[in-house]
Amino acid sequence: MSQNGRSPTRAMPEGMIIAPSILAADYARLGEEVAEAEAAGAAWFQVDVMDGHYVPNISIGLPVLESLRAVTDSFLDVHLMIDNPEVFLEPFAEAGADLITIHQEASTHLHGDLHRIRELGCYAGVAINPATPAATLTEVLGYVDLVLVMTVNPGFGGQKFIAEAIPKVTRVRELAAEAGLTPPAIQVDGGIDPTSAPVAAAAGASVFVAGSSVFRWPAGIAANFAALESSIAVHV
Ligand code: DX5
Repeated sequence: MSQNGRSPTRAMPEGMIIAPSILAADYARLGEEVAEAEAAGAAWFQVDVMDGHYVPNISIGLPVLESLRAVTDSFLDVHLMIDNPEVFLEPFAEAGADLITIHQEASTHLHGDLHRIRELGCYAGVAINPATPAATLTEVLGYVDLVLVMTVNPGFGGQKFIAEAIPKVTRVRELAAEAGLTPPAIQVDGGIDPTSAPVAAAAGASVFVAGSSVFRWPAGIAANFAALESSIAVHV
């Protein structure tokens, strides 16, 4: 996968994946809640990093990833909602990221940044916000492993799903096919629950990031995770 760099430590899981976002977890019990989600079947977690500048919120950083890496062998997907992501690619790779996603809107040199992520031994992801056209990714689809189509404006969990973003899931697949490329995994993130997940699945998404609907809903982590998996089962 990386011609001139390290190889990934863990293979990127394939198929239809529910990926809990730890943004919504209880940080006083993070390890326990991740273990509870893993007991329910989760094997891919998203770590939402926010800098208070690219997005109007500050979340977590390197120490939390390092601590989580030490207690889980699950696939850790680091979503950098930060300006100047190029500054933090190596630190997050060293801290244990398996995949690093950067925002198309935040990367001045997207070609170089994506290649650098792979050189560091991580899978490369690129994210686009609801107002960003899928066509802005045409020239990079050949060297990303994942495209994240945001279904909220980034910065906070618990927001309302933006259904208008869903046609971009299909458009990314079309752009890849038009270029003769195998489509990358397409991830959706924001307001994903048992109602919105099947809508995204029908459009071609395969990775479903869910924070509130896993960690915050009253049924509890195991039941919440199972409900999400059931909601996309027809697409498996
Ligand atoms: C937004 C974050 C959220 C988070 C999931 O910047 O990226 O989308 O992962 O939030 P929920 O699932 O609570 O909408």
